[in-house]
Amino acid sequence: MIQSILLFVILATVFVACNTNKKDIIEPDNQTAYLQQHRPQFHFSPDSMWMNDPNGMVFYEGEYHLFYQHYPDDVVWGPMHWGHAISTDLVHWKHQHIALYPDSLGYIFSGSAVIDWNNTSGLQSGEHPPMIAIFTYHNMEGERAGTNNYQTQGIAFSNDKGRTWTKYSGNPVLDNPGIRDFRDPKVTWFEEGQKWIMTLAVQDHVSFYSSTNLTDWDFESDFGKNTGAHDGVWECPDLFPLMHSGTEKWVLLVSINPGGPNGGSATQYFVGDFDGSHFINENPGTEPLWIDYGKDNYAGVTWSDIPGEDGRRIFMGWMSNWQYATVVPTTPWRSAMTIPRELRLKNADENLQIISLPVTELELLRTSKYMDLEPAVLSGETEIKGIGDFTGSQYEIRLTFKLNNGSQFGLASDFGFRLKNDTSQQVTFGYDVSGSYAYVDRINSGKTSFSQEFRGIHEAPLPIESDLFTVHAFVDKASVEVFINNGEGVLTEIFFPDQDFNSIFLFAENGNVQLISGSIYELKSIW
Ligand code: FRU
Repeated sequence: MIQSILLFVILATVFVACNTNKKDIIEPDNQTAYLQQHRPQFHFSPDSMWMNDPNGMVFYEGEYHLFYQHYPDDVVWGPMHWGHAISTDLVHWKHQHIALYPDSLGYIFSGSAVIDWNNTSGLQSGEHPPMIAIFTYHNMEGERAGTNNYQTQGIAFSNDKGRTWTKYSGNPVLDNPGIRDFRDPKVTWFEEGQKWIMTLAVQDHVSFYSSTNLTDWDFESDFGKNTGAHDGVWECPDLFPLMHSGTEKWVLLVSINPGGPNGGSATQYFVGDFDGSHFINENPGTEPLWIDYGKDNYAGVTWSDIPGEDGRRIFMGWMSNWQYATVVPTTPWRSAMTIPRELRLKNADENLQIISLPVTELELLRTSKYMDLEPAVLSGETEIKGIGDFTGSQYEIRLTFKLNNGSQFGLASDFGFRLKNDTSQQVTFGYDVSGSYAYVDRINSGKTSFSQEFRGIHEAPLPIESDLFTVHAFVDKASVEVFINNGEGVLTEIFFPDQDFNSIFLFAENGNVQLISGSIYELKSIW
């Protein structure tokens, strides 16, 4: 009897132990098929439960690491962990164990990761240089008690290529001076000054700190109180160099919530110089510049430690908006990331502006099913036929229009493409010629009633200098990302049709427009 009670206790203990760990053990080769309604097929989404910002994006030994804000116990925001996934090609992702759990110092908010090549931190224990994560501790007790200093910065290290993590025993490494919003450290190695620079979001500006060992940090300067957009809190900054015509420039990304150009969350940027202490904005006095005008690209930052021979600056954002992120109609997960994009600089209107381009690795997703479109003068709405046997609802669309069409009829008032399903739901991407703006209209896109802020037409001002207008769009089950004129304008939007969009139309209203060339590719699922 005693033996069987003992056996029961042992079995019960084992069962409880397995159950407790279960959420954390997502075997990469044992993923679910991800066939749920609205589940993105080639965008990264968590296996289950809540996700927000991308964190700690770093490249090491052939692997792109993506960490992310994650609450593994519910589909809404909660005690933040860092989830983790790895890709060797930026396109196919394998889920990993949760990297960082909340502890007595607080929830693990957003931050970055670097490779400490010279072991400046002294935290290396094996043959690999340590991977160091720098993040914000958000202390809930402090917040509830009404204090102002509940956000501090901590670090953690991994000596096995990001597989397991140890929190630094001396945390926090940067205390809070009494400012409620003091978070999202993005750290980069500043070669010229042989020191680390931390860019931190502090309420309505960013603060720069420096360190030679990642554990002791000195204040350098503030930037931004009187520059840029200020209708919300500044969050998730990123500071990095970008070459332009043989000259090094520095770019500062700053997310803001609310206060985006189409409402809610969005990411603005500044271009200028950084001398190891101060950021000097070279586009002062201009309207805020936005990395994406769509409503669904927030908290995006760039990968650290991409090898010099690659040389790209690669960006990824969270494809949602705090206005409705916690109520979008998906289960058992919430949110996806954008596709990875390469950022470059370009001269525009006497300013340097960022252009965004889908990374070329995305071509790996193309199936053998594609079609080239015949040149045509478009007027009214034309269904693209010949893709009827495509099985998925994931497409890449490339279109080149010519605005000066030389025909006897006038130029259309607007033109573009429309995604439709069999229940008359639709999403339209278009260009309004007289208003000089591109737009996505998701008014009749399916489920929209979950939030007053969701329905609408969202615009990107985009004067066009030449008579050519190019579109490069990625459509997944529940999102569209449109890169216009080689990435000069970007619109990223999510949607939730009752049936997947299974047909594509081209349209030109109140006149016509010439289609010079076009291709549609079916895209594979990454899962
Ligand atoms: C941005 C943000 C960050 C914060 C994190 C918390 O979306 O608010 O500022 O660190 O989310 O999950």
